[in-house]
Amino acid sequence: MLAVQQLSHRFKNGAEETPVLHDIQFRIAKGEMVALLGSSGSGKSTLLNLMAGLMKPTHGSILINGHAIEKMSENQLAEFRRTQIGFIFQSYELIPHLTVRENVELPLIFQGIKAKSRKEKAFALLAKVGLGDKGEMFPSQLSGGQQQRVSIARSLVTSPAIVFADEPTGNLDTKTEAEIIDLLIELNVTLSITFVIVTHELEVAKRTQRVIQLRDGFLVENEPWAGENE
Ligand SMILES: Nc1ncnc2c1ncn2[C@@H]1O[C@H](COP(=O)(O)OP(=O)(O)OP(=O)(O)O)[C@@H](O)[C@H]1O
Ligand SMILES: [Mg+2]
Repeated sequence: MLAVQQLSHRFKNGAEETPVLHDIQFRIAKGEMVALLGSSGSGKSTLLNLMAGLMKPTHGSILINGHAIEKMSENQLAEFRRTQIGFIFQSYELIPHLTVRENVELPLIFQGIKAKSRKEKAFALLAKVGLGDKGEMFPSQLSGGQQQRVSIARSLVTSPAIVFADEPTGNLDTKTEAEIIDLLIELNVTLSITFVIVTHELEVAKRTQRVIQLRDGFLVENEPWAGENE
């Protein structure tokens, strides 16, 4: 599903260069739920953004279903991201003047899918995340946990190959955090969605099948939890 190969990244600001990721290498299989763990500044968001095609690496390769995304043109990558990649943000990133249902439908509009089938798809996903009755409300009328459920529904509406989440529970209290992780696990199990979840919370990481850990831009651990705990 996903292969990261000899990936390095440095940010350039004028003459100044900040090396952030160093020779990262791992694979993720279809249907896996993986936590990307590490302290603040260790490079988690940078790695996630590279894997989601939001920026290009300085060196190395990212293969999603065999497609090297760093080699794609802007247009190819935009199309690939629209259809194959889902993204969940810490701050939900919902559009305030659109209803919950319209927010979920949005990625389908760019694919030219007809209104009726968009609406059906959006409602089906909202039901799946426990918000079947909230479709015609606006994001500001929902709690933080509910807004994150909407953004999870939106990330799944195009049936992507893989979904990346950058600290999806970072703005939520502990109880709501556990509920959102429950939901992601349920979606992973019932729909075989492949998830990569950035977190600096060990409690969140412990609930996934596998953890990939970064320290100062280096991969320090890439083990299934089962092996860890034995
Ligand atoms: N656009 C940029 N230009 C220069 N340096 C950057 C840029 N973005 C990130 N960095 C640097 O890269 C390093 C890793 O940042 P990154 O955002 O990937 O960390 P993180 O692990 O996601 O941290 P956090 O847990 O705080 O979100 C940091 O030292 C940061 O300052
Ligand atoms: Mg980050």
